Amino acid sequence: MTTTQTLAQSQPASATGPTYETVLSVHHWTDALFSFRISRPAGFRFRSGEFVMLGLEGEKKPIMRAYSIASPSWDDQLEFFSIKVPDGPLTSRLQKIQPGDTVMLGRKPVGTLVLDALTPGENLYLLSTGTGFAPFASIIRDPETYEKFNRVIVTHTCRHVAELAYSKQVVTETKNHEFLGELVDGKLNYFDSATREPYFRHGRITTLIENGQLFESLDLPSFDPARDRVMICGSSAMLADTRELCQKFGLSEGSNAAPAEYVYEKAFVG
Ligand code: A2P
Repeated sequence: MTTTQTLAQSQPASATGPTYETVLSVHHWTDALFSFRISRPAGFRFRSGEFVMLGLEGEKKPIMRAYSIASPSWDDQLEFFSIKVPDGPLTSRLQKIQPGDTVMLGRKPVGTLVLDALTPGENLYLLSTGTGFAPFASIIRDPETYEKFNRVIVTHTCRHVAELAYSKQVVTETKNHEFLGELVDGKLNYFDSATREPYFRHGRITTLIENGQLFESLDLPSFDPARDRVMICGSSAMLADTRELCQKFGLSEGSNAAPAEYVYEKAFVG
């Protein structure tokens, strides 16, 4: 590490402004998706599932966007999963970051996809599409999730099979992890599907809930407010349809202030 990089790490721009963090690694999953890890400032606290502002210096002012933190709260680095928007003011540049580069990180993580926003239950369903998997990459790697729930079912649906690679790897690594492996054994289920090319499981998550395929494959009954809790993260259209389904099954929406049976958040686009 060079002196400049050492100085860049975790230096506040101002007492309340973003901090400057060092990029530690970058992985490109497809032409349109990548993940990266950055340094975590001392004292940066968050709850697994929350999001934070992240960005780069701009010509006049920083360009910052909301990003779900994909790493769990115990990790000493921060991980993010991002789309690459060719003309996106931030992601057109962010996709080019390399280890050693500097990114800007907001100081105040927030969000509703947190265990605190749900009342106690037996099964936790984490339903995602596209980059909506990011907050769940955090939640499925948090031991607290398995203290609170007997079964944790994370679903990821994308247009193309290649877009499932990141979630597949996170789940596999979690199951094989030195400490987490034992904790998640028999509890963590991964349910993936693709919608625009042939795959062993085809279709939108809403369809797979409605036709019972999700529940059949898990050998579980369909959503029941007495037992099941749901978190949803995807596009606006996906959220609207999935929320409607939750309501149809009798689940009510929770928040940090008033925990209940399901919560949702829009997947962020750069
Ligand atoms: P589909 O290919 O049938 O549109 P996007 O990239 O548009 O956000 O889509 C990501 C995934 O979410 C795709 O598999 C897409 O399916 C699915 N999807 C899009 N809209 C909805 C919706 N209203 N409900 C459920 N899934 C959706």
